[in-house]
Amino acid sequence: MTEHHGTIESHPLGQDEAQNTFPPSAEFRAQANVNDPSVYWRAAEDPEAYWAKRASELRWTKPFTEILDWSNPPFAKWFADGELNVAANCLDRHIAEGIGDRVAIHFEGEPGDTRTLTYAELTHEVKRAANMLTSLGVEAGDRVAIYMPMIPEAVISMLAVARLGAAHSVVFGGFSADSLRARIDDAEAELVITADGGYRKGRVSALKPTVDDALALRGGGSTVKNVLVVQRTGNDVTMQEGRDLWWHEEVVAYDDQHEAKGFPAENPLFILYTSGTTGKPKGILHTSGGYLTQVTATHRDIFDLKPETDVYWCTADIGWITGHSYVVYGPLANGATQVIYEGTPETPDWGRWWSIIQKYGVTIFYTAPTAIRACMKVGRQVPEQYDLSSIRVLGSVGEPINPEAWRWYHEVIGGEKAPIVDTWWQTETGAIMISPLPGLTSLKPGSAQSPQPGIDVSIVDEKGRRVDRGQGGLLTIRRPWPSMVRTIWGDPDRFVDTYWSQVDGQYFAGDGARVDEDGDIWLMGRVDDVMNVSGHRLSTTEIESALVDHVAVAESAVVGADDETTGQAVVAFVILKSQQQIITADEAEAELKKHVATQIGAIARPRQVFVVNELPKTRSGKIMRRLLKDAAEGREIGDVTTLADTSVMQIISDRVRSEK
Ligand code: WTA
Repeated sequence: MTEHHGTIESHPLGQDEAQNTFPPSAEFRAQANVNDPSVYWRAAEDPEAYWAKRASELRWTKPFTEILDWSNPPFAKWFADGELNVAANCLDRHIAEGIGDRVAIHFEGEPGDTRTLTYAELTHEVKRAANMLTSLGVEAGDRVAIYMPMIPEAVISMLAVARLGAAHSVVFGGFSADSLRARIDDAEAELVITADGGYRKGRVSALKPTVDDALALRGGGSTVKNVLVVQRTGNDVTMQEGRDLWWHEEVVAYDDQHEAKGFPAENPLFILYTSGTTGKPKGILHTSGGYLTQVTATHRDIFDLKPETDVYWCTADIGWITGHSYVVYGPLANGATQVIYEGTPETPDWGRWWSIIQKYGVTIFYTAPTAIRACMKVGRQVPEQYDLSSIRVLGSVGEPINPEAWRWYHEVIGGEKAPIVDTWWQTETGAIMISPLPGLTSLKPGSAQSPQPGIDVSIVDEKGRRVDRGQGGLLTIRRPWPSMVRTIWGDPDRFVDTYWSQVDGQYFAGDGARVDEDGDIWLMGRVDDVMNVSGHRLSTTEIESALVDHVAVAESAVVGADDETTGQAVVAFVILKSQQQIITADEAEAELKKHVATQIGAIARPRQVFVVNELPKTRSGKIMRRLLKDAAEGREIGDVTTLADTSVMQIISDRVRSEK
């Protein structure tokens, strides 16, 4: 077992469960997709039968006869002898069922431009794109990198790649050239789909130049043969002859006839890179049949989706797992009508989200606690200017939602009537694992509450034994689930080590949790070296490596310190090289913040950088990040007795205090 620096016991959440709960109203319950509580025990009696039934709700070109193959744990196979086309399940199936005229996407660009795509139109676009990709040489088994703003072509690209049985690797548009390149190289992508730029905060945020920079790194050689560029913002871009192609110029040459072939259920669907406890991002591999089964089922059940009448909106970017599972695959497989918005919530002002909800009559809204807290700060008078009465279900994801934010969300956005589903899951789990079911659960603000039907979660001690109710421990998953990560791309050993070796025979991915007297689960945050900043996962080690990569830095330690708005914020402590003449300690803060943003991306930019002379280390040389976290959060410094030099922390905490 590795050392955990989490503060499971001292975490402020979880002391709250004595307060009121919010049972579903009789009306909501009566109309809910899931309103029979026996679903839990029936699924628990035979989880495989439960999931087979959910899988059969999809359209298979070759029906499966096997359900779970767990003969080689932890490498699971689900529905392995079945075949399906994931994109056809999101598109052609709906056309065949006669709902081609239903709106699939209400797109709202940040500058205010809009575009509506019905299922029939989206299907045509995807078919044309699939033909275009085929002529660019994309085949089943290949990898395509997607580096795009939140525009319809991002979704079209993902579905076109999936339609061909190839795998996409979507890289969040905020990542730097370095990060993009590392992901392209690791996946050995042959094609990059990008745009000239996207609109963010009222400005053009260029993307294509970053792709150029990425491909120019390491002497310019890479696996990439073509770059396909969507024109969005009209900013100047250089097109490299023979390599770069404009989407709009190419696509017109292709027709919208394209037959979707079935691929095996375990055919890779996508790789999505996520931060782990080490410096190198992990390529989380998801496959087709099991993934689509679970995202579709959870999307329908947890959000109580009525595809005929609901207007669903998830604010996540497709660069994250939430965008994959609950913007693209879950909603489209369910035939939902959804809103996709390109920009930021404060552009042109903080009323933007609420005006979109009013305009499209959004009924289901899914966002992150960090965004809710930012809106709370601005004040309820902003959303109160809009008609939000269409909202009937609210969702939260990415980090624990503090009860105060929960109540605000419930009252101000949900009009005190919409249930809030606090959904716990991870890039690795692929789909929601723990959440209330809105027609069944009496909600407890701050708790994600119940494992979903067919999901076997437990809270255990370090030896893997279940803890008693009222206790905290590590959150593990005992039985394989359909949308689970299959491996780390190119590194099966790391997959076994990272997730399956810490708690014997159980999946453990870094979260601490507590189970209360009613058996409800309260997430307590990460117990490993992963930070959660605005709901985005960042690795302390990755940022530390970026810092020491700077010529002036000798050593660094990074911690995630509590932050009122972003949940956690990156706080860095650095030791400068003594002989360096490059920067003074005063210049270091600004320079190193910028350096991290360029190396990794703006999301990783430290809130603070402290230049120190020494870092707190144990006698064996291990940096005590826990103590630095105490200092960064302005707390009394914890136990320093294991430090090699006990005076170090005094100096550091004085230094932090003088900044405040
Ligand atoms: C955290 C995002 C508490 C958790 C879908 C997890 C949450 C990490 C919740 C995964 C929640 C996500 N309550 N914590 N409802 N949802 N987390 O891979 O620490 O970007 O391990 O997936 O976010 O982040 P990821």
